Amino acid sequence: MTTPKLASRMERIVPFYVMDLLARAKQLEAEGRSVIHMEVGEPDFITPEPVIEAGKNALYAGHTGYTAATGIPELRQAISDHYGRSFSIDVDPARIIVTPGASGALQLVMSVLIDPGQEVLMTDPGYPCNKNFVELVSGVPVGVPVNADSNYQLNSTHIGDNWSDKTRAVMVATPSNPTGTVVERDEMARIHKTVKERGGHLIVDEIYQGLVYGQDGYSSLELADDLFVINSFSKYFGMTGWRLGWVVAPHAFVESLDTLAQNLFLSCTSMSQYAALEAFSPRCLDVLEQRRDEFRKRRDFLLPALQDIGFRIPVPPQGAFYLYVDSSGLTDDSFSFAYELLEAQGVAITPGKDFGIHKPEQHIRFAYTNSIENMAEGVRRIRKFLAR
Ligand SMILES: Cc1ncc(COP(=O)(O)O)c(C=O)c1O
Repeated sequence: MTTPKLASRMERIVPFYVMDLLARAKQLEAEGRSVIHMEVGEPDFITPEPVIEAGKNALYAGHTGYTAATGIPELRQAISDHYGRSFSIDVDPARIIVTPGASGALQLVMSVLIDPGQEVLMTDPGYPCNKNFVELVSGVPVGVPVNADSNYQLNSTHIGDNWSDKTRAVMVATPSNPTGTVVERDEMARIHKTVKERGGHLIVDEIYQGLVYGQDGYSSLELADDLFVINSFSKYFGMTGWRLGWVVAPHAFVESLDTLAQNLFLSCTSMSQYAALEAFSPRCLDVLEQRRDEFRKRRDFLLPALQDIGFRIPVPPQGAFYLYVDSSGLTDDSFSFAYELLEAQGVAITPGKDFGIHKPEQHIRFAYTNSIENMAEGVRRIRKFLAR
């Protein structure tokens, strides 16, 4: 087979390493081995029943065609109401653009903001796709190494120190993937100020916003209306496969985002949009709050259990469903550790390598998207593996 001639950006866009690990885990399972999954970045619960019902009804009601590229007006209004109800923030529905997941929103925002060669600051470790959204528009992703001392998040000092005359935007995710840590409100205000003083744009990914434990969540939309806030129905709402998210943009960018959405996507899935209307119903929110509570219990189980066997967790994460642990007391190569653990004991975890180049060999991400019972078995197996 001849190697196809690809655009040079494809040299910089690589698959997730964990996909190989996942393939191996599936192979082991097909051979009859039991695998405990703590690598998967999506809720293990299916979509809440009221949403499924609404999706089915939408199909039978004939909602099978294209919609407006910015989303059905009812859903934009429902999202606006959600900000009013949950955070007392008044968001004009005209600023809300419904997208194919947060992924679609990230693609739109990078496309309207970034010219070739312009830089976007983001955390390292961070969500692996972020740098690829920047690559896609021939921008330059700049990973800023972050450590426990800043909650594994960017702060205004990082931004000042890493700003160059090519910097155009800063991306922050709170709570974050892979660390689950949040940017505190005051720090977000300082970040916003620093970015604005330099004439840049702030993009805040709030996809894990509904999954914050032990403190009140907030939306960066309360700070100002000149930033981009991205969210999704994937995680808190348990709708990963429905492919639906949104961006709240400054008024001045809405028209361009709409034009681009028309060209790139035509529209989001019609059935998903009608189903999502039900996601904000009291019946559904009840279920989602119970699930959030379950995720908190799982975090509270897994965190001390992992510390007990020698992983360091210097910052207890306040959200999402991830623990980003320092494995340096147990191995100097988290990548081999993950593979050997899978082969020897059937426990699947994500090595740091997927999230950046800053000390990846010293870190592992555990996703608590599995039952406490299964995770307890996973921890028992890791203990056995360490005693080998
Ligand atoms: C931080 C972050 N942003 C964005 C996404 C994309 O999510 P989706 O496109 O399913 O909304 C993910 C998915 O894991 C994520 O972790």
